[in-house]
Amino acid sequence: GAGEAPAGDLAGRRVVVSAGGTREPLDPVRYLGNRSSGRQGVALAARAAARGADVVLVAAHLEVPAPAGVRVVDVGDARELRAAVLAEAAGADALVMAAAVADFRPAAVSATKVKKDPGTEDAPVVTLVRNPDVLAEAARPGPDRAAVVVGFAAETGDDAGDVLAHGRAKLARKGCDLLVVNEVGAEARTGGGFGTAGNTVVLLGDDGTEQPVGPAPKEDVADAVWDAVVRRWARDLP
Ligand code: CTP
Ligand code: CA
Repeated sequence: GAGEAPAGDLAGRRVVVSAGGTREPLDPVRYLGNRSSGRQGVALAARAAARGADVVLVAAHLEVPAPAGVRVVDVGDARELRAAVLAEAAGADALVMAAAVADFRPAAVSATKVKKDPGTEDAPVVTLVRNPDVLAEAARPGPDRAAVVVGFAAETGDDAGDVLAHGRAKLARKGCDLLVVNEVGAEARTGGGFGTAGNTVVLLGDDGTEQPVGPAPKEDVADAVWDAVVRRWARDLP
């Protein structure tokens, strides 16, 4: 539980956490968004600070307050989040990408509010383009890569594979060290997920490890993630 982690075991570590959900503008008053509350990312930042880390929280439209004792960098859309994450994570001890980053954004942003045409019943068509994959970019090998890179994934099983198979494929595709996999729809059975206090996840490691966590408060899930990061640092000692 939240009280069991050794106090100060992240002292001297610089960690970056992204949290919340990006919003992709359509016009000056509208955006495409998602339902991430930011709670899991905020819990990760809070627990890292409580365990002694120097924490930067890259925050996209949090619905909950940022914890005390962390440096907050506010961002709006995916491209702003990318710039902040890449700048802050350069040379960091860990990057945890808990933010829900929009995969697509409107190809064009109207400088003026989009109005209905009173002459017709037609509706506009919104063309989307791909956003950059921030996690894949931050996880790419290079001198600036954070020592340990952690991704999140909300998955459902489908014909192509179960939740963990999708998680494994995503871990490899992104190039991260750990992936926190959340089964979408499991909230109904176990409690957790979007906007709730708890979570049920599996921590997948690129070394093949597979650790179920929860159902548990998001603070306890956060501690389990930091425990896994601490094990990585220990394993990767020169
Ligand atoms: N992510 C990111 N940049 C994006 C999209 C996602 O950095 N443009 C990060 C998220 O913060 C998360 C991880 O990638 O840590 C996985 O997000 P997810 O949406 O599950 O992955 P995608 O690659 O977008 O795959 P999918 O097509 O399943 O949405
Ligand atoms: Ca996505």
